[in-house]
Amino acid sequence: PPALFGNRKNSQGINMNIQNQWNDLASAYQPFLERQWQAAPVISGQRLAGTPSDVRCPYDLNKVVGQAQFASAEQARQAVDRLAAYWPTWNATPVEARAAVLERLGDLLEQHRAELMALCTVEAGKSLQDGIDEVREAVDFCRYYAQQARQKLGREELKGPTGERNELFHEGRGVFVCVSPWNFPLAIYLGQITAALVAGNTVLAKPAEQTSLIAARALELMFEAGLPKEAIAFLPGDGATLGGLFCRDPRVVGVCFTGSTDTARIINRQLAEKEGPIATLIAETGGQNAMIVDSTALPEQVIKDAVGSAFTSAGQRCSALRVLYVQRDIADRVIELLKGAMAELNVGPTHLRENDIGPVIDQEAREGLLAHIQQLKSEGRLIAEATLPAGLNGHFVAPVAFEIDGINQLKKEQFGPVLHVVRYDAADLEKVVAAINGTGYGLTLGVHSRNEETAERIEQLARVGNLYVNRNQIGAVVGVQPFGGCGLSGTGPKAGGPSYVLRFANERTTSTNT
Ligand code: NAD
Ligand code: ALA
Repeated sequence: PPALFGNRKNSQGINMNIQNQWNDLASAYQPFLERQWQAAPVISGQRLAGTPSDVRCPYDLNKVVGQAQFASAEQARQAVDRLAAYWPTWNATPVEARAAVLERLGDLLEQHRAELMALCTVEAGKSLQDGIDEVREAVDFCRYYAQQARQKLGREELKGPTGERNELFHEGRGVFVCVSPWNFPLAIYLGQITAALVAGNTVLAKPAEQTSLIAARALELMFEAGLPKEAIAFLPGDGATLGGLFCRDPRVVGVCFTGSTDTARIINRQLAEKEGPIATLIAETGGQNAMIVDSTALPEQVIKDAVGSAFTSAGQRCSALRVLYVQRDIADRVIELLKGAMAELNVGPTHLRENDIGPVIDQEAREGLLAHIQQLKSEGRLIAEATLPAGLNGHFVAPVAFEIDGINQLKKEQFGPVLHVVRYDAADLEKVVAAINGTGYGLTLGVHSRNEETAERIEQLARVGNLYVNRNQIGAVVGVQPFGGCGLSGTGPKAGGPSYVLRFANERTTSTNT
């Protein structure tokens, strides 16, 4: 069977992508694994004291990585005061100057790549390949949104009657809150913030509880890139407590949120009920993502793409494959190959090159996944379970695959390395798509078929944001595969796409009788 990430492992079982980059990275990366990091609330550039707690490494619970201080309610109020006061100044700063800050930030992220990768490893448990991709995506967001702002936020003259000048232009909305998840602690965190800033908003940044340290380091780089200290407030802390405050604050004009669908609903309700302007909500949420494989597909390619999509990042991607639909005629062969590929997965501490799959983020996530796995095991339909090496001391969950009857058997998103396989009959293809649509989610969908009509028919019927044909379904590239879904998966616009920056801006026109 093919190895997990294609045939890209060398004779020691090390992913060749990592091996090729390792010579450049190793000496720079290693020392940062031992560093202690700090995060604390920052308002107008001033670092404040908060409630402290130790941050532990998810793959080695004895290892303390640093300390995060969580912000108080009073600090949240103070942050909005300051951001509201500075907004007119930042909004009046030329787009060119705002875009230049993003570009300098992109350059700084590249210069600090080894350090940021190490932080992604020790705080979020990311593999080396995930760390490389994470920094790359963050850089891409900075450069892409700078370019988009220059192209789209300038003044445009619109044709009208003689004797009249009509101009369209954009400005920031005011104080925007950016709430980000732990699974892309640098890329999504910075993607939200840079888009909001470049459009002319001041930003209250609320990173995920689990990854405050990475976010704090990125904040320092934003200041180094020339971002005025008053343009951003950094509030690490508990989502429900802080969210309940700023989502009800009348001075907040919008929230950009990435995380679970349940949290998006809470924020949506709070924004709807608050005083002040009708607030914008940009929500990028969960998925229940499937891949449909018909009998014309190449089984080896299917396995490479399915295993990569389901288990990369320990399955902790909103884009990850959860339900593999395989046409009955080739299902036995695909399942045999799946067993072989899963036997090759290297799970373990992710600062080691040979491990491609790390821990899940915390104990709560692990327990939720293990309960689901236990339930499916008791139903007796286990296909394969990867082996966990002895002596691990982290939040590890062994990648596992089960057979189930249909996607509707899954009541919620399982955010981890669990793959479900369903056999279907060729005549039922449209019913399969209807069942996938029936979940209400609409994020990613994979199709493996060498029959173009099948892929086209699925494209017509499926209600998803990102469709991938004959390839894997994770790792959307900024500006190339704008990312985001519909229905329970989010409001749009797509991150890394041409409409994203515009959603953070107010559109205005001025008509002058000349
Ligand atoms: P989560 O909803 O628990 O937390 C996300 C963020 O929201 C965190 O910063 C958290 O502190 C904050 N938060 C929690 N409760 C809040 C409240 N009441 N008000 C305001 N903020 C609150 O999600 P998570 O577990 O961190 O992330 C995993 C989820 O994110 C998965 O469902 C995944 O599919 C989704 N996700 C989606 C995308 C996408 O682009 N569609 C990308 C990454 C992750
Ligand atoms: N943008 C991320 C991916 O495509 C979530 O995997």
